[in-house]
Amino acid sequence: MPGLPPLVRRAVALAEGLGFDRSCSVETGRLLHTLAAQRGRARVGEIGTGCGVGAAWIVSALPPAARFVTVEVDERLAAAATHLFADDEHVGVLCGDWEHTLPPHAPFELLFVDARPAKAHAAVPGLLAPGGTAVLDDLRPGERMSYGVRELWLEHPDLVAVELTVRPEESVILAVRAL
Ligand SMILES: C[S@@+](CC[C@H](N)C(=O)[O-])C[C@H]1O[C@@H](n2cnc3c(N)ncnc32)[C@H](O)[C@@H]1O
Repeated sequence: MPGLPPLVRRAVALAEGLGFDRSCSVETGRLLHTLAAQRGRARVGEIGTGCGVGAAWIVSALPPAARFVTVEVDERLAAAATHLFADDEHVGVLCGDWEHTLPPHAPFELLFVDARPAKAHAAVPGLLAPGGTAVLDDLRPGERMSYGVRELWLEHPDLVAVELTVRPEESVILAVRAL
């Protein structure tokens, strides 16, 4: 795929090789890449690594000293992603349930929430640093049913949030924890 950062190409190839079809879209990836490039990203996280495609978009844009932690409950996927990022000492791939493994690494300036049960979990906004940004992908534009995701993130008293359409069949929520 031309135009993709090399690490993203490797992650996409990994996903294809393992038959994993739930990686983030290129449109969401570019959004993550842009947000990761912003000033002030020192601790960045992800819930749901998959084969590391979203992680690769983020890591490809982070400043060199930023710490990135991603968690994946599926051992086979976590092992594959660990191998993908093995050369980068600033990347940690955790294997386990985000609820137990990720909080010690918080708070995050940027957090990609990409495991379905976590998207509507009331504890996740609390993983953000003040001024930190969460990204939730894979919503359907115009479809109101979101299993509590929109209610949690768009109506949360401590968040400023917006839903953006990134391609005709996908919208994402961007939410910032108020300072
Ligand atoms: C949509 S995929 C992630 C795709 C990836 N973020 C990307 O952009 O390429 C969701 C992943 O979340 C993982 N997952 C589901 N529940 C989880 C949990 N409780 N803790 C950590 N990971 C979980 C699944 O195994 C799956 O690999």
